[in-house]
Amino acid sequence: MNKTKTIYLLFAFALSLIFYACGSKKEAANTEDYGTPKEETTAPVTASDAITQGESLVKASDCKTCHHRENKIIGPSHTDVAKKYEFTAANVEYLAGKIIKGGSGVWGEVLMSAHADITQSDAEKMSRYILSLDGETEH
Ligand code: HEC
Repeated sequence: MNKTKTIYLLFAFALSLIFYACGSKKEAANTEDYGTPKEETTAPVTASDAITQGESLVKASDCKTCHHRENKIIGPSHTDVAKKYEFTAANVEYLAGKIIKGGSGVWGEVLMSAHADITQSDAEKMSRYILSLDGETEH
């Protein structure tokens, strides 16, 4: 074996070591990312689930035509609604009724349209989402 060939072989060996080291490092990181899978059976509907579902319902409905999260447009901003009302079961029920029946007179003379197709339970989820916007939790 001549000198050049030996150097070349050593270089190739060193390179393969580096690649091997990087490869195994990645594998280790992946194992860490995923961890041990948690046993998840039917998840209970928690307060935060209701809020997340409420958010999707509000986004899927026509609310955004008149309401913005932070800015008043035709109706009050949903954050202002959250600030006006305490996050209590009674207010969840009251606002759910208002979402379904519509009405005016609380924020001004502009009428909120009725949403007769929304169920009481979905309207309550929407109310919980809206009431959570000022950072308050239900009490
Ligand atoms: C046509 C416009 C319009 C649409 C669509 C609309 N709103 Fe409203 N909303 C209003 C107006 C106007 C008010 C203020 C009513 C008042 O002064 O009593 C209001 C008030 C509210 C309030 C506060 C009620 C109160 O008594 O303080 C909530 C909560 C609310 N809207 C939620 C929703 C949700 C959820 C949707 C979608 C399902 C929605 N709104 C769709 C116009 C609208």
